Amino acid sequence: MKREHMYQPTDLTIVRNHRPVTGLFEVAQTIGFEAWTKRMPNRSKTEIENVFKPNSLKAIEKLQKNTSKKIGRFVSIVAFQGDQPIGYAWASDDVGNMSHFKQRTKRMAGKISGKKPYAWIAQINVLPDYQGNGIGSAVVDELLKPFDQDQKASSYVFDENQLTLQWFKKLGFNPRPAEPVDPNSDPNGPDLYFGDDAKHVLQWRLESPSVTNVRQNIAKRILPEYVVEEN
Ligand SMILES: CC(C)(COP(=O)(O)OP(=O)(O)OC[C@H]1O[C@@H](n2cnc3c(N)ncnc32)[C@H](O)[C@@H]1OP(=O)(O)O)[C@@H](O)C(=O)NCCC(=O)NCCS
Repeated sequence: MKREHMYQPTDLTIVRNHRPVTGLFEVAQTIGFEAWTKRMPNRSKTEIENVFKPNSLKAIEKLQKNTSKKIGRFVSIVAFQGDQPIGYAWASDDVGNMSHFKQRTKRMAGKISGKKPYAWIAQINVLPDYQGNGIGSAVVDELLKPFDQDQKASSYVFDENQLTLQWFKKLGFNPRPAEPVDPNSDPNGPDLYFGDDAKHVLQWRLESPSVTNVRQNIAKRILPEYVVEEN
């Protein structure tokens, strides 16, 4: 089927939020599950559920707790077709996985030296039926608007998800390092993402020279029409 015969966005609203609210993580479980199931057909339902578990209060709370621990800027987007959430993303200043005290120290040192954290796109997913219509690109554009435009941007993508790796490259992200790495660090240990018995995943780190650079690349693409609501 040709793309022009598929879904055409008509009633698209992009809602931006600046705090990690529960509704975002509910949407994340459902849309993430659908998008990853379709995109990673070699993964079992159990493996996908290790990352996204629709309607799981525990999964929602865990994500919210981990996200709330970070200091710095946080921005999220939920894209709606009418009343239905069809895509979401969130990004934050990347301070790494460290204690609150260390985060503060690192941030302070960065302020003094003028070194800014990466604007890290932590998650982005669009429901399968709505992909390929520019919604993901519009979501990234609106997601990165509130960050300092000279911040570098970063994200991660699994090697088995080549379509998304290519998509990030179109937006100006480059692999750093040049090869994918095992995010579990120990290939014989448990798999962090898909569960203990799962086949180990390789992951690319992607970096863009600046938020401006990503947004300039998006400006060259055909985007759907949408309205923005700020929360
Ligand atoms: C990656 C993702 C968020 C992009 O959102 P999107 O709305 O499809 O993005 P866009 O429409 O702006 O761009 C789609 C581009 O990616 C490719 N693409 C990705 N999925 C596609 C699909 N299902 N159909 C058609 N093109 C697709 C195309 O090359 C297209 O580029 P083109 O417009 O130059 O032809 C979305 O495809 C998705 O959720 N994928 C599955 C889950 C995933 O990989 N999430 C990211 C994990 S890190």
